[in-house]
Amino acid sequence: MNIVQVSSEIAPWSKAGGLGDVCGALPAAIAALGHRVVTVAPRYKQYQDAWETPWLGGAWLYGQYHRIRWYHTRRDGVDHLFVDHPSFHRKGIYGDSNGAYGDNLFRFALLCRAALQVPDLPLEGGALGEDVVFHANDWHTGLLPVLLDAVYRPAGRYLRTPSILALHNVAHHGATMMDAFDGLDLHPRWQGTLAQSGALSPLKGGVSTADQLVTVSPTYAKEIAEHRGHGLEPIFSARRDELHGIVNGVGPEWDPVTDPLLPATYSADDLSGKVVCKAKLQEEFQLAVDPDAPIFGFIGRLVYQKGLELLEQLIPWLVQKGAQVVMLGSGESKWEQWMLGLGGQFPGRVGTWVGYSEAKAHLVTAGADMFLMPSRFEPCGLNQLYSLRYGTVPVVHATGGLVDTVEPIDVVKETGVGYRFWPYDVGPLMGASEAAINLYRSSPESWKKLQIRGMAVNSEWEGAAKAYVAVYERAIARREAILDAI
Ligand code: ADP
Ligand code: GLC
Repeated sequence: MNIVQVSSEIAPWSKAGGLGDVCGALPAAIAALGHRVVTVAPRYKQYQDAWETPWLGGAWLYGQYHRIRWYHTRRDGVDHLFVDHPSFHRKGIYGDSNGAYGDNLFRFALLCRAALQVPDLPLEGGALGEDVVFHANDWHTGLLPVLLDAVYRPAGRYLRTPSILALHNVAHHGATMMDAFDGLDLHPRWQGTLAQSGALSPLKGGVSTADQLVTVSPTYAKEIAEHRGHGLEPIFSARRDELHGIVNGVGPEWDPVTDPLLPATYSADDLSGKVVCKAKLQEEFQLAVDPDAPIFGFIGRLVYQKGLELLEQLIPWLVQKGAQVVMLGSGESKWEQWMLGLGGQFPGRVGTWVGYSEAKAHLVTAGADMFLMPSRFEPCGLNQLYSLRYGTVPVVHATGGLVDTVEPIDVVKETGVGYRFWPYDVGPLMGASEAAINLYRSSPESWKKLQIRGMAVNSEWEGAAKAYVAVYERAIARREAILDAI
């Protein structure tokens, strides 16, 4: 199969959260199965390993022709293409301290228009042609399936070429005022496909027109069809058979055995390196260096989704229990301010770092004993998967992908890999945290077994890659069936 994966983020070149990780790792896993994969993402800045090509493209948008240039690199068997246009050359991917950029609809419509031109590019190995599957991700590329139906197929192109849309977070519609539709250069009859509660929603357009839909966990697939679909529940439930939950994997850069960002590496057979990481974490976050104090870690975007209100109430209580807390994150200024104040409030017990740091993320994941994810909702979540692999026990709200990936501990049967709480409230969160602290203190043997069970969980990308390929096959079959019916 030939696959063109299109996304607003692709690690390591661009990343704001888990979307970048997934779009960076999945293509190589699919290529390893023997498929030809090309990725398309914006060129937000100069990338040292991606070179200018002579290939040009462009699109009519908002009454003007916008020319783009292609940049290219090849890595792990995947061709990576970057769309170069001045509107992408900014400090943030989606916005800055003043909020989201006002022209995001234009920027990502341009990305979609450009991606649809990729099958014609004279890539090494030959142009892809129409025998491709387009794989879009989230609202930024929701227009891509719409463009296939609205622009290409009426002109006789891409008749058999399917698209899938992967949903990493349906809380973001990319919604703008409906009058922005005029600049998209689409026939007015497509306005209804994009209309959601009086606004223009690229997400709704994609969800309505892609041949198959994927979400990043089975539980989230169920949730969005029932109550968490942000207005799209009726479409998700009508398309239940075409909506697949596939849990994300973990890339090779998250492996405690080889991790170059750690002061000491370790494995399930020998956890001594984790003790070294804990001491370094305590030192770096200015905590009392104490091997016996249980450390709770948190890493994440400081936004509504992540359940920070619960942490606000939990942290003083954890300190009272003799635990330590480390937090790494950036996001809404209210939460950044709060985090900055915590160190002074609980000196030696709570350490925080506001900002984005790959190296610190690895140190927290390795050095903490428990990992907190009290997210209100979580489509998949990657940090709990990383924690499991690093022998750091997750304490999570029973929602979305956290349900599918954190089997609760059963001390008697010696099963399970972490602690879950439900419903979303600080009482249940304290209960789960207390249970973790108690086991950590009272039974080092049981704790170690718990860690090792988590480290043994298979979260390789290969399984997810195979599941995506099966969805591509269904998308191809759906296209054929539509064509046969005409
Ligand atoms: P989401 O995509 O909703 O942000 P995920 O758990 O899927 O949540 O993925 C978050 C990713 O972003 C993880 O790789 C995590 O380590 C990373 N991340 C989030 N905040 C930071 C930060 N401040 N510094 C470093 N990495 C971060
Ligand atoms: C989104 C979700 C997160 C998921 C990630 C990658 O950002 O919030 O739960 O892990 O996408 O799929």
